[in-house]
Amino acid sequence: MSKQPRQPSARQTVLTGITTTGIPHLGNYVGAIRPAIAASRAADVDSYYFLADYHALVKNRDPARLRESSLAVAATWLALGLDTDGSVFYRQSDIPEIPELSWIISSLTAKGLMNRAHAYKAAVQENEDSGSKDPDKGITMALFSYPVLMAADILMFSANKVPVGRDQIQHVEMARDIAQRFNHIYGDTFVIPEAVVDDKTAVLTGLDGRKMSKSYDNTIPLFEPAKKLRKLVMKIKTNSLEPGEPKDPDDCTLFDIYKAFATEDETAAYRARLEAGAGWGDAKQELFEYLDAHLEGPREEYSKLLADPGHVESVLQAGAEKARARSQALISKVREAVGIAALS
Ligand code: TRP
Repeated sequence: MSKQPRQPSARQTVLTGITTTGIPHLGNYVGAIRPAIAASRAADVDSYYFLADYHALVKNRDPARLRESSLAVAATWLALGLDTDGSVFYRQSDIPEIPELSWIISSLTAKGLMNRAHAYKAAVQENEDSGSKDPDKGITMALFSYPVLMAADILMFSANKVPVGRDQIQHVEMARDIAQRFNHIYGDTFVIPEAVVDDKTAVLTGLDGRKMSKSYDNTIPLFEPAKKLRKLVMKIKTNSLEPGEPKDPDDCTLFDIYKAFATEDETAAYRARLEAGAGWGDAKQELFEYLDAHLEGPREEYSKLLADPGHVESVLQAGAEKARARSQALISKVREAVGIAALS
C-alpha cells in the first residue's frame, strides 16, 4: 500500500448549528456552548456558528416562542464571550442560499436515504406503537427532509468538521453521502464533512437525576436570576442520607454539576466535603453560591442584550454579510454545475 502524501496543513472550517428551541440551560452550556466558544478562539480554524431557525420551525408553531428563543440563544452566546470577529455568527434564515441549496441537493438525494433517518423512523414507530392506521400521521415534509436542510447548512460553507452530539452523527453522514453523490455527478464542488463528537464533554445530570434535557423538563436555565437559580438548585434530587453520613460523589447530581464548572482543586475539595458527610442542604447552598458567582457576570451581560435586541440584530446582520460572501460564491458554482444559469 502506498503511503498518501500528507496534505499541507490547510485551514480547517468548523461549523455547527444551534436549533432555536427554548432557552439555553446548564447542560447546553457545558455540552455545546462552552466547547464551541473555546474552539472559536483557536487561531488555525475558521468557525461558523448559526441559529438554525428553519430547523426550529419544524416543531414550532408558536411565532412568539420562536422569536424569543432566537433572541435568547443569540444573547447567550454573545454574553458568554463568543468572538464574533474571529468567527462567523449568523442566522440560517438570513442566508437565502441555504434553502436554495437544500432544494438543489434534494434533487439527487434518495428518498430511501431519508427513510432511514432516526428521527423520522422514531416518529413512524411511535405511530405504529399507538396503533394508528397511518404510519406518517402528523409527520411533515420538513421533518422528513430535515437532514437535507442540514446537509445544505454544512456543504454551503465547505465545513470540514462538524461538532455535534451523538444523535446528529447520522445527519452528518447523510451530508457526506449527498456531497459525494453531487461531486460524482457534477464534478468536485463540495468538501466532504466529518462529524466530530467529543467524548470528553460532560453530559450534565438534571434536577431529577436523568440527563439534563428540555424534553425531560429537568433543566436549570443558564441565566435565571439568583433567587430562582437557588430555588432550582434546592430542588435537585438527592437521597435520604443524613448530615454526618458519608455521601458518594460519583452518584450525586450536585457533584456532577459542580464538577462541570469548578477547577480540579475545587472539585477535589467538594468531593472531600461530601465524603466527610456534608449535609445535602449545605452542599446545595455551596453549589448554588459557586454557580451564582460564575454566572453573575455573563447574566448581567445577557440581560443587557435582551433589553437591546437591536444590537443583537446588528451583530447577526454583520455575521450574515460575512456568511453571504461565501454562500453567494458557492451557490453560483452550484447553479452553474447543475445547469441553472443565465442563457447568455
Ligand atoms: N440538527 C442539529 C441539532 O439538532 C442542529 C443543526 C442544524 C446543525 N443544522 C446543523 C448542526 C448543521 C450541525 C451542522 O443539534
